[in-house]
Amino acid sequence: MTRRYRYGIIGTGIPWKQEGATGFGMANPHYRGFTATDRTTLVAIANTNDDHARLFKSRHGLHCPVYHDYREMLSKERLDIVSICTWPHLHAEMTIAACEAGVRAIHCEKPMATTWGDAKRMRAVAESSGAILSFNHQRRFLAPFQSAKRLIESGSIGAIERMEATCGDMSDWGTHWLDMMFYFNEETPAEWVLGQIDSREEVRTFGVWTEQQAVSHFKFKNGVRAALYTGFEANIGGPAIRVTGSEGVLEILWESPWLRYKMAKDADWRIVNSDEGIHGEAAIDRACADLVDCLERPGHAPLLTVEHAIQHTEVIFATFESSRRRGRIDLPLTADDSALIDLVQRGEIGPSRSS
Ligand SMILES: NC(=O)c1ccc[n+]([C@@H]2O[C@H](COP(=O)([O-])OP(=O)(O)OC[C@H]3O[C@@H](n4cnc5c(N)ncnc54)[C@H](O)[C@@H]3O)[C@@H](O)[C@H]2O)c1
Repeated sequence: MTRRYRYGIIGTGIPWKQEGATGFGMANPHYRGFTATDRTTLVAIANTNDDHARLFKSRHGLHCPVYHDYREMLSKERLDIVSICTWPHLHAEMTIAACEAGVRAIHCEKPMATTWGDAKRMRAVAESSGAILSFNHQRRFLAPFQSAKRLIESGSIGAIERMEATCGDMSDWGTHWLDMMFYFNEETPAEWVLGQIDSREEVRTFGVWTEQQAVSHFKFKNGVRAALYTGFEANIGGPAIRVTGSEGVLEILWESPWLRYKMAKDADWRIVNSDEGIHGEAAIDRACADLVDCLERPGHAPLLTVEHAIQHTEVIFATFESSRRRGRIDLPLTADDSALIDLVQRGEIGPSRSS
């Protein structure tokens, strides 16, 4: 039976590179994804920027009300589903307000939050309200990553021993690669984190202070070791992600072919061909459909749960904390702030560093 869920969006944005864009306008693929399920009706949007709201409505031919205050939308519209597509400093307050307003399913953009304390509060409030809370680490739905996971699970490279990954930064893009490491390693929790960050210039990503270089070395509770290297000189020898097993190695590449692996007996790489790459909005369609499925099929857990997101979020904040404490951080992480922001504010790293 088809049911129409009342759907709302907070932060509508303008698509990347279009006139007036302040980011990627992630609300657009969210809207497309939920609409494609044929089980949602967009009943309201909230935006503090009138132009963004007006352009979103005209782009999609909508006639729904616009709220300046997202809290008013949440209290008046009895929403079943909400997309939160604002910048990260707003994710915690908006997610928590949506849970408290009785929204049943929330799809929030990554990264979870700007402090570890906020991330934990988001999870706690979602749990107590019973809301399904997911974060848009949509790559879990793309073929190269799903094929890699299947290869790992079928034992093609033996038991995983270590993983390495690289990308431009840890706070923003790095959330995707850390998420992928947990995905490949069966969501096993991390045990400790040893990290270092460099932040000599002011760089902001979606408003959040972002380190320029980072190394995050961590161990999972099943013994697997992982390392994420980020920044302008990071390089793990070509691939984006490498998974080394007891009997082979698998790599996710930055361009086609996106996935290859090699077993101990192989002279050459085995290429896994795929029409899909490591980007693509089809993944967001699938993430939205998966969330709607959770409402319709009790017991169906979404692939992008808050429990998944919080595991790699802890690794990020523990890396900052390791840099602050100059030592290994045994999890669970107890410092609730962002050590990166604290170090910058105290002038220990960043442009105003004293020495
Ligand atoms: N999953 C991905 O691959 C991916 C890709 C790009 C961006 N993102 C994430 O998506 C999030 C949003 O980024 P974006 O590029 O869509 O940003 P954007 O700048 O395009 O859109 C943000 C919108 O939020 C609105 N806004 C700001 N304050 C508000 C408030 N108080 N109430 C309601 N609306 C408000 C702005 O007016 C704007 O329309 C970020 O966290 C970013 O990291 C994720």
